[in-house]
Amino acid sequence: MGFSLGFVTFAALVLAVSAAPTSFVLIGDSTTANGTTPNSGGWGNGFCASLASGTPCINTAHNGATTGSFVADGFWNISLAAIRGEVAKGRRTLATIQFGHNDQKIAPPESMGTNMTAMVQTIRALGAEPVLVTSLTRRSFTSDGKISDALGPWADETILISQQQNTHLLDLHANSIAYCEAIGPDAAHRLNRLPDDNTHLNVNGTIVFGRMVADLIKASFPSQLPVIPNAQLSFNITHGIASF
Ligand SMILES: *[C@@H]1O[C@H](CO)[C@@H](O)[C@H](O)[C@H]1NC(C)=O
Ligand SMILES: *[C@@H]1O[C@H](CO)[C@@H](O)[C@H](O)[C@H]1NC(C)=O
Ligand SMILES: *[C@@H]1O[C@H](CO)[C@@H](O)[C@H](O)[C@H]1NC(C)=O
Ligand SMILES: *[C@@H]1O[C@H](CO)[C@@H](O)[C@H](O)[C@H]1NC(C)=O
Ligand SMILES: *[C@@H]1O[C@H](CO)[C@@H](O)[C@H](O)[C@H]1NC(C)=O
Repeated sequence: MGFSLGFVTFAALVLAVSAAPTSFVLIGDSTTANGTTPNSGGWGNGFCASLASGTPCINTAHNGATTGSFVADGFWNISLAAIRGEVAKGRRTLATIQFGHNDQKIAPPESMGTNMTAMVQTIRALGAEPVLVTSLTRRSFTSDGKISDALGPWADETILISQQQNTHLLDLHANSIAYCEAIGPDAAHRLNRLPDDNTHLNVNGTIVFGRMVADLIKASFPSQLPVIPNAQLSFNITHGIASF
């Protein structure tokens, strides 16, 4: 009796948790942004397309942004308005934050870390959940087929802030490096927005890395998020097989 009551309660809880309507707000630079403008083309749209239809997924990422310029140029206010709007509807709201590509050009990692910490705390104060994401790798290779990585210290800083602030962390940097090295330069470059642009993604790149992020966030919040499975694409990603 006690067991079955316990079971019913547990089942109801699981149902309630998995049915909690969830919204997503994406914050970051061009490697997250909607790829409809020049110098843009990130994983955001492919990620949004990996969610159950009707799931709000608001991509507020902006090309060229650092953690500082994102705030100073007013994009952060757009993100906050989107977060407030979703929280006000009673939705569980996850806000992903990924920076580094441009922060790297202007300051040491700690500057990004300080700004990221403030973002995490503001998002929490609004009743939403911050999720930190390490930078998508550039698809530049050394002659021995390894990724020529310059973003490591910014990825490490993101990991450090996630530990200090106790947030979920999606290690896109490590996963995207492993995948690009597995498929090799030619296949990796087929995901470029333009042939010589190793930073931004074309539509196929958005599909691949959007799925990678969707699978990472799904694993980080087991059985809680409305991610639509794509077993074949996930298999390709985890087994280092080029899809395109
Ligand atoms: C990307 O931009 C296009 C064109 O403005 C828009 O129709 C689409 O909804 C945007 N997608 C996302 C996920 O924001
Ligand atoms: C962090 O934000 C400050 C302003 O609060 C700004 O001066 C600094 O350049 C920012 N750092 C980066 C890497 O954008
Ligand atoms: C963002 O909103 C705050 C509060 O409304 C305002 O003080 C600030 O000036 C805004 N920032 C920008 C860059 O518009
Ligand atoms: C997985 O990779 C294979 C081999 O390249 C390809 O034919 C297939 O279309 C890929 N599947 C998906 C869903 O991307
Ligand atoms: C995406 O992949 C499809 C199937 O391989 C291919 O036909 C298409 O040209 C690719 N798109 C781009 C922009 O490379």
